[in-house]
Amino acid sequence: MIQNNIEKILKENPLIPVVTISDEVELVQIYEKLKSKNISVIEITLRTEFAWEAIKLFKQKYGDEFKVGVGTIINAEQIQKSIDLRVDFMVSPGLTTGMIQLLDFSGIPFITGVSTPSEIIRGIEIGWEFFKFFPADLFGGSEALKAYGSIFRNIKFCPTGGISEANYKEYLELDNVLAVGGSWLAK
Ligand code: 3PG
Repeated sequence: MIQNNIEKILKENPLIPVVTISDEVELVQIYEKLKSKNISVIEITLRTEFAWEAIKLFKQKYGDEFKVGVGTIINAEQIQKSIDLRVDFMVSPGLTTGMIQLLDFSGIPFITGVSTPSEIIRGIEIGWEFFKFFPADLFGGSEALKAYGSIFRNIKFCPTGGISEANYKEYLELDNVLAVGGSWLAK
């Protein structure tokens, strides 16, 4: 299964909230906010001291209702920790050689970030088909994805970065976009 079947998560969850959580109070607030929007997926980024605790806690409290993913993964150690915590998916803004095998053998669905054609080609060489397009707004937005669609016909994207209530639909309408991610969903 390509990228441990990240396709299923992206197809079932076209809106992926990307969140930073600083304490348990905020965690509960975010859960309630997302629930009120009928969202049942969350990408908790490794950008706060509390992040690992938040991932553990969110899974404990709401793991039956939510797919709980880790975001902003930038090294093998963080992948290993995500595997140990049995998270539901992993997201990295980019990729190094040291991360490739660990991601593939983890058994956990994952996507890594690309912004340029060469990065997409590198991913295709590995055998991958699904990528985070990041930072989407700064690298040409939906126009760039249209151009990539005509070159990389089987490749699907989850754009994130600068996506908002005002522009998310223009991304989701594209044939090569399965889901969009962003912090606006939890605000
Ligand atoms: C990410 O990690 O995917 C982005 O930082 C989310 O970007 P946003 O805050 O612009 O939505």
